Amino acid sequence: MSPHPSRILLNEREILVFNDIEEISEFFLDEWQRISGYAIRHHGEFTVALSGGKTPVRVYERLSELSDHPHWQNTHIFLVDERYVPFDHPDSNYHMIRQTLLDHIEIPEENIHPIPVDDSSPDESAVRYETELRLYFKGEDIPVFNLILLGIGVDGHTASLFPESSSVRESRLVIDITPQGRFGHERVTITLPVINNAENIFFIVTGRDKADVLKRVVVDNDRGLPASLVQPVSGQIIFLIDRPAARLIS
Ligand code: 6PG
Repeated sequence: MSPHPSRILLNEREILVFNDIEEISEFFLDEWQRISGYAIRHHGEFTVALSGGKTPVRVYERLSELSDHPHWQNTHIFLVDERYVPFDHPDSNYHMIRQTLLDHIEIPEENIHPIPVDDSSPDESAVRYETELRLYFKGEDIPVFNLILLGIGVDGHTASLFPESSSVRESRLVIDITPQGRFGHERVTITLPVINNAENIFFIVTGRDKADVLKRVVVDNDRGLPASLVQPVSGQIIFLIDRPAARLIS
């Protein structure tokens, strides 16, 4: 049975509060099938950009249960961001998505679009990925993904757009980033113009340690946090959160 989240509307953002990540995954699976079904019926393909990090692991595992779904043949999977490490490195987002989802579904290899990490530098990788996006989404000044899945870091970053960096003012589609401090590896990330142009943007945020940053994003609308700057041009944005993360907003 589909979960029944409580619904909060704040600053034009829809926030759905679930008991746990299992319920969030269940709901997201239904949304994925609805959005991909519509996109494939109307445009022949479904384009999605996925985030890394720990939060979506369970979601991808659940998605992999749709292993032989006919939609995979017309689904194109891109990455929101990547740590500039080899694909078999434990910190690689592609590695995580491969292990939790891609290895278990019947998707043609050419439908998978990882951010390259075999270039001589992250900035060359960013240029290459931007070229790939422009070729794939030809005819569109800025790609229009059917769905983008995002997370939020405790510091308010999303994708690899970190606070106090000029990355949030970028007009390039893909850039390289050197995060400060504990976030480690150099990264390559899509930028706000691409994120905000998507038809459907989902944030998934779970856990007590995210409650404070979530409040600063959805209640205070703190413009110093990159996650607050995610505001779709004409698409929809939905936050799927669990009760511990919601404790300061409900
Ligand atoms: C990454 C992500 C990043 C992530 C947040 C939340 O590569 O780390 O794409 O933007 O979504 O950092 O990460 P957690 O889910 O691990 O808390």
